[in-house]
Amino acid sequence: MTVLVTGGAGYIGAHVVKLIRDAGGDALVVDDFSTGLAARVPGATIVRMDLSVPDSVERLSVVLREHDVRSVIHLAAKKRVDESMALPAFYFRQNISGLANVLLAMQATNVDRLVFSSSAAVYGSPATYEVTEDAPLSPENPYGQTKLVGEWLVRDAVRAWGLRAVSLRYFNVAGAGSPELGDPLVMNLVTMLLQGRSLGQQPKVFGGDYPTRDGSCVRDFVHVRDVARAHLASLDYLSRPQRPWDVFNVGTGTGSTVLEVTRELAAVSGWNVEPEICPRRPGDPASVVASVDRIAETMAWRAENALPDILSSAWTAWQHDHPNA
Ligand SMILES: NC(=O)c1ccc[n+]([C@@H]2O[C@H](COP(=O)([O-])OP(=O)(O)OC[C@H]3O[C@@H](n4cnc5c(N)ncnc54)[C@H](O)[C@@H]3O)[C@@H](O)[C@H]2O)c1
Repeated sequence: MTVLVTGGAGYIGAHVVKLIRDAGGDALVVDDFSTGLAARVPGATIVRMDLSVPDSVERLSVVLREHDVRSVIHLAAKKRVDESMALPAFYFRQNISGLANVLLAMQATNVDRLVFSSSAAVYGSPATYEVTEDAPLSPENPYGQTKLVGEWLVRDAVRAWGLRAVSLRYFNVAGAGSPELGDPLVMNLVTMLLQGRSLGQQPKVFGGDYPTRDGSCVRDFVHVRDVARAHLASLDYLSRPQRPWDVFNVGTGTGSTVLEVTRELAAVSGWNVEPEICPRRPGDPASVVASVDRIAETMAWRAENALPDILSSAWTAWQHDHPNA
């Protein structure tokens, strides 16, 4: 029995594939390599396919049958907020058509278990410090909207034909499970700090007067290895007869301030620098931290890696990918 991991050659996907294979399972990767790299999943069976094009339903159905796939972890998507604002229709086509085609192929082949990659972006700017799954959903960009519409599509398939599915809303994913599996995209605080370090730039902290313990914004950083573990816990959950919830936050439940992340990263990487405090950026909420009670109580999943593990692994991976930096 094989697990299909779409987007398996990407940052999170490669960690999921590794975990499945380390546990003795079979993982099949489908990826269009728009951002993924085959080198991230050595030895895995890979099928190159853009899931957003119509003929992928037929092609994926063949693949699902040929490999005796029983469950799908659907990570394949475009994920850049800035790009999604410039190219909203492209994001809807890639993320929503891609998911719809996966669901059509699953229904056609009676594959009835799905873990869907959602995002904390579905919450927009939450009004409360700790965000439960029942918080209002108000994505603020086309990327987040594709994740919310994706959750609806998954829920509708559950109602329509008996799909068993969960949507996982990841918070700030960072770190690396091994040096060669670092996050290649410079888009989140950790990779932006690492790039700034390489370029000899003083780190900038936007906003020093938020109502937080040191005045900078608070975010929930979760180790990519823990995120990968949440997918395996979800597959176990989907085999239970009773499944009370279909949406789960994936975070640590503990917030770190931007200043703490900056100083901790400076410490683990031997970077002797003090951050510059700059004016706030419009639209940045003061604090966004996941409530993780639901996933802990239902799946017995908890993040095992704290901020120092996240940052030291990210630094090691950055050095691996930028040996001359
Ligand atoms: N990294 C984060 O912090 C984060 C946070 C929340 C949610 N997510 C979600 O997690 C998932 C994985 O993110 P990631 O960080 O690993 O990103 P990534 O860009 O590294 O991985 C995405 C993978 O999907 C592939 N892909 C994209 N579109 C495809 C298509 N149409 N057909 C086939 N393959 C396609 C890419 O080539 C890549 O290998 C995405 O759905 C993303 O939206 C990520």
